[in-house]
Amino acid sequence: MLCLGAQSYVRAQTAPQLGKASVKEVIAAMTLEEKAKLLVGAGRGFGPPPPPAAAAQGAAKPATPVAAPAGPMIGQTDQKVPGAAGVTYAIPRLGIPAIVVSDGPAGVRISPIRKGDSSKTYYATAFPVGTLLASSWDPELVKQVGTAFGYEVHEYGIDILLGPGMNIHRNPLGGRNFEYYSEDPLVTGKMAAAMVEGIQSNGVGTSIKHYTANNQETHRNTVNTIVSERAMREIYLRGFEIAVKDAQPWTVMTSYNKLNGTYTSERQDLVTTILRNEWGFKGFVMTDWGGGRDPIAQMNAGNDLIMPGNPNQAKAIIDAVNNKQLDEAVLNANVEHVLNIILKSPAFAHYKYSDAPDLKKDAQVSRMAAAQGMVLLKNSGNPLPFSGVKKVALFGNTGYDIIAGGTGSGNVNKAYTISLAQGLQSAGLHVDEGLLKAYPAYIADARAKMPKPQRGMGMFSGPPPVPQMTIADADIQQDAANNDIALITIGRNAGEGADRKLPDDYYLSDAEKALIKSVSDAFHAKGKKVVAVLNIGGVIEVASWRDEVDGILLAWQPGLEAGNAIADVLSGKVNPSGKLATTFTMDYKDVPSAKNFPGKEFPDQATGEGFRRQMPAEVTYEDGIYVGYRYYSTFKVDPAYAFGYGLSYTTFGYSGLKLSSPAFKGKLTATVTITNTGKVAGKEVAELYLSAPAAKLDKPAMELKGFAKTRLLRPGESQTLSFDLDAKALASYDTAQEAWVAEAGNYTVSVGASSKDIKQTAQFKLGNELVVEKDEKALAPQVAITEMTSKTN
Ligand code: BGC
Repeated sequence: MLCLGAQSYVRAQTAPQLGKASVKEVIAAMTLEEKAKLLVGAGRGFGPPPPPAAAAQGAAKPATPVAAPAGPMIGQTDQKVPGAAGVTYAIPRLGIPAIVVSDGPAGVRISPIRKGDSSKTYYATAFPVGTLLASSWDPELVKQVGTAFGYEVHEYGIDILLGPGMNIHRNPLGGRNFEYYSEDPLVTGKMAAAMVEGIQSNGVGTSIKHYTANNQETHRNTVNTIVSERAMREIYLRGFEIAVKDAQPWTVMTSYNKLNGTYTSERQDLVTTILRNEWGFKGFVMTDWGGGRDPIAQMNAGNDLIMPGNPNQAKAIIDAVNNKQLDEAVLNANVEHVLNIILKSPAFAHYKYSDAPDLKKDAQVSRMAAAQGMVLLKNSGNPLPFSGVKKVALFGNTGYDIIAGGTGSGNVNKAYTISLAQGLQSAGLHVDEGLLKAYPAYIADARAKMPKPQRGMGMFSGPPPVPQMTIADADIQQDAANNDIALITIGRNAGEGADRKLPDDYYLSDAEKALIKSVSDAFHAKGKKVVAVLNIGGVIEVASWRDEVDGILLAWQPGLEAGNAIADVLSGKVNPSGKLATTFTMDYKDVPSAKNFPGKEFPDQATGEGFRRQMPAEVTYEDGIYVGYRYYSTFKVDPAYAFGYGLSYTTFGYSGLKLSSPAFKGKLTATVTITNTGKVAGKEVAELYLSAPAAKLDKPAMELKGFAKTRLLRPGESQTLSFDLDAKALASYDTAQEAWVAEAGNYTVSVGASSKDIKQTAQFKLGNELVVEKDEKALAPQVAITEMTSKTN
């Protein structure tokens, strides 16, 4: 006996240590409780969980419903990094440290001020929002932003950044669209991959989110998203597939919604079959904060980590193993995924972070990137770049109170934001003094009179917008006499917890329309120009008012150097080269998902009160694969500004489109020469669209299969761009075969300056049908969907 006791004492002393022993040995030494705790975040107290949500219509009741706190939740951890979103459980006896995860997609979101520490601040750089970055169509640029971003993640003691966000812009009202990249999965995937590569080049991780079909905020914790397998594969999974294959993010975050009846975090086919087995994902999967309902189903699905985590979830896991409802081998696999990433983390390496990243340097990266992603939508009579302009009349609240980025977990606590007024002044321009005084005073007064935000989802949305200041026509006429040009800013903000609205958001308010009219009339009467600057995170209606102004610069939400970056473009210091990665429709009714957004709700089944109120809901993606330009081009609906569109201060010629072969044999390269035919240096984005034969399967008229951006070309200078097409680029998803199939026949390659401005075309032939990739059956909807097809055209 004595002897045995001594042996176990020795064993305890030499418990295998992570990094020294193999991961398998460490797992073998873990108790069941330790495993469960590692797989459930170390959490935050948000009070007791509400009763489990009523099972939605037709959905099976989960075996062990342990509801995480419902309602709004942006994680917080006050331990190592105050204001970070969450932390994992440490097991010091096995050498397993806690790792810290933090939001969000546009910059590190942590508390800028720390209790008992008045010596310094912990601000971070607000980079431009995802939609702006995607509008650069420049993965190298996005990687550069990611590299600066990841450096701040590292220097603030964070192990994994909860981003990039990469859901598809299915509908312009999506409240979090600003965090995401595009309506197109190729642009989305390439941008996300570049961001992941950049951030992870610092030795920290990312979490691409929200996996998947999370395209609305309305009822985000309960909505059942009903989508066809084909639309899933071609639209809603494709971006994630590209990001995983190209960049291996350390983690993936599952979404809040149900997908075809089951929470995404509880779907083994989504999390294990597709992500891990088909795509070769090597990291770990975490839930969104409070996402899903059933920890046992999450463990079985391969959703390795439940965040932010509460003790009930760990207990449910332990009980399920003890009751033989859950196989401990499942936990071992999940623990292995988590430990493999912890091994790479700065926490494991005891990295001595500085808490003092060089924010000045990163602000310059933010400014530079912001200018690269702005899109010049209109420039009639060339009001831009400013020429002979010294005095600017700056109208619109957001000229003085600019919106750097969206709200909720996509927000960044930054030390400052440069307003447009400041940016113009720093560029040596004179901003009308009357307006410069009146606007900030009006905004401060209006804010002071606003009611305090209520507890609930709305508390993440920041203060409501201040209505436009009204200015008497006589004053505007005076401004027109005193200044050389008018700028009118139109601002919009949104964020997690709510989708945008049509009145006064997608559509301009009456006050905004009146302002545009009065300013345009007054300035035009004096032969002076008017330029609108759109400081928005998502698409708005432009068709009804765009004729009144001479120019429109889409500045998006450009990060903390906003005003400087906008001034760089207005002044011509930077020639705009951004293009739309999301369509601006003529009207909301033209949006293919308009009649299926945000779907149906079931108020009679609602549970909980106040901000914990949960309402079952469902949305059916009848638009299928016809999202964005895939719809507008196929159904011949004219957009206001097409996908891929954007002007420059110069012009470009396209010539000599060549294909490497007239027949497809596994691979094909297209080359085209772009020439700067104008008077100033500029960069051009060229887009390659493919039109595939549609004998068997319904196909969109065109799909983006490649894009490339030139370097800065001097007037007269040319550059040849090349685009590689592999077999998958030719293929569509054939649900009957569960395979990506390229049909035999003629394919048309169209290279253009936008989806509506095709400059060169060429054709190639595929002799025989190709089954490019055979997949497992997965994600099948449980109900029939009446999907749009081009035959209904
Ligand atoms: C958001 C996530 C975020 C998480 C942690 C959730 O409410 O949906 O995007 O990363 O909170 O703050």
